[in-house]
Amino acid sequence: MTMKCVDDFRLRLGKYELVPIIIGGMGVDISTAELALEAARLGGIGHISDAMVQTVADRRFKTHFVKEKLKKYKHNVADMNKANVMFDLGRLEEATRLHVGKTMEAKQGSGLIFVNCMEKLTMNAPRETLRVRLSAALDAGIDGITLSAGLHLGSFTLMENHPRFRDAKLGIIVSSLRALQLFLRKNAKLRRLPDFIVVEGPLAGGHLGFGMDWAQYNLHTIMAEIQRYLQAEQLNIPLIPAGGIFTGGDAVAFLENGAAAVQVATRFTVTRECGLPAKVKQEYFKADEDDIEVNTISTTGYPMRMLKNSPAIGSGIHPNCEAFGYLLDGAGNCTYISAYHREVMAHPGEKKISVKDKTCLCTQMRNFNCWTCGHYTYRLKDTTRRLADGGYQLLSAAHVFHDYQFSTEQKIKLPT
Ligand SMILES: Cc1cc2nc3c(=O)[nH]c(=O)nc-3n(C[C@H](O)[C@H](O)[C@H](O)COP(=O)(O)O)c2cc1C
Repeated sequence: MTMKCVDDFRLRLGKYELVPIIIGGMGVDISTAELALEAARLGGIGHISDAMVQTVADRRFKTHFVKEKLKKYKHNVADMNKANVMFDLGRLEEATRLHVGKTMEAKQGSGLIFVNCMEKLTMNAPRETLRVRLSAALDAGIDGITLSAGLHLGSFTLMENHPRFRDAKLGIIVSSLRALQLFLRKNAKLRRLPDFIVVEGPLAGGHLGFGMDWAQYNLHTIMAEIQRYLQAEQLNIPLIPAGGIFTGGDAVAFLENGAAAVQVATRFTVTRECGLPAKVKQEYFKADEDDIEVNTISTTGYPMRMLKNSPAIGSGIHPNCEAFGYLLDGAGNCTYISAYHREVMAHPGEKKISVKDKTCLCTQMRNFNCWTCGHYTYRLKDTTRRLADGGYQLLSAAHVFHDYQFSTEQKIKLPT
């Protein structure tokens, strides 16, 4: 008997037939266009992310979206009230079109490129900014949109009148049957089901759709629950598990149980195409199991997994909402602003303060100082070779992709 590998399966999405490997979105340019393009070139699906798209555009295309916004609101920097610090919707559209459009122009191969869209980036005007982000991505030719972080109960409605609403591949990320049921119920009248559902378990990187009791949940169990429900409702929607799928063998176990594809991310954080700085990639390689924690310093309200030595943890920098401001809620509040203000008041005259309970997530993600990662990051060192200088050899995205695609059992192929 020969052991099965991922390549024995295919993901069917409408007219497309794909290698059933999806590289998940990793916010603020960790899943770069280069990484997503590799996935598409190899016949799978890659994600770019539209988190902090103006910053990302500036870095990629030498535009000045951030500088311009900061200049406009410079007078407000010392003010803890950010209610008036708004995004210019025209500029937001321009940045999204650039980021998405230039990526799509470069696409080769038979795979697809999706954009990961976090609803929790409320940008001081949740509906308006989300509508612009979604429609600009569709205008710029994105193959699909994965709606993440937030329940997105109204996101389909925001796209309803777009000419590509029924042709683009639109999917959601959920971590429970309940969240899926809410979404389906809320959107029933649109007569447009999601084209795919990513079921993200508690071992994923980034924000978690669980509370601090995440360890009590299991991805296989949640998948089975959702599968039973869809079957009972006679809904045929591809299910895509994510979170802790570390080897081709792990992926095959899900595919044999009816998953349409798998979404993976952590193994790609140590590839050359990944946007993290080289030094940070070495931190990911070096990490041991007890160097990783799930904490609540994210201002989104969701727990987040990260390396304990992330410079973001305990940092007490001045908020940068005039330049960034992606996490301001509809009234211009962010839990970091109040935490920062509290510490400033408690330590009068001190130059450098520390804020322990929250972090200035925009700034920290922008500067690659919040080292978010999946639970199995501590196994990355087993996926490569040690170099003479003590460091670890970076991998190519193609190497990792092919390892998922062709390896059997729990084997991991090392680079040459
Ligand atoms: C560094 C990193 C950043 C991430 N950022 C995001 C994000 O911005 N949005 C999102 O929906 N998921 C994010 N994720 C989750 C991944 O897209 C993916 O679903 C998950 O990490 C898969 O599990 P794995 O990392 O164990 O393979 C991130 C994951 C990592 C490792």
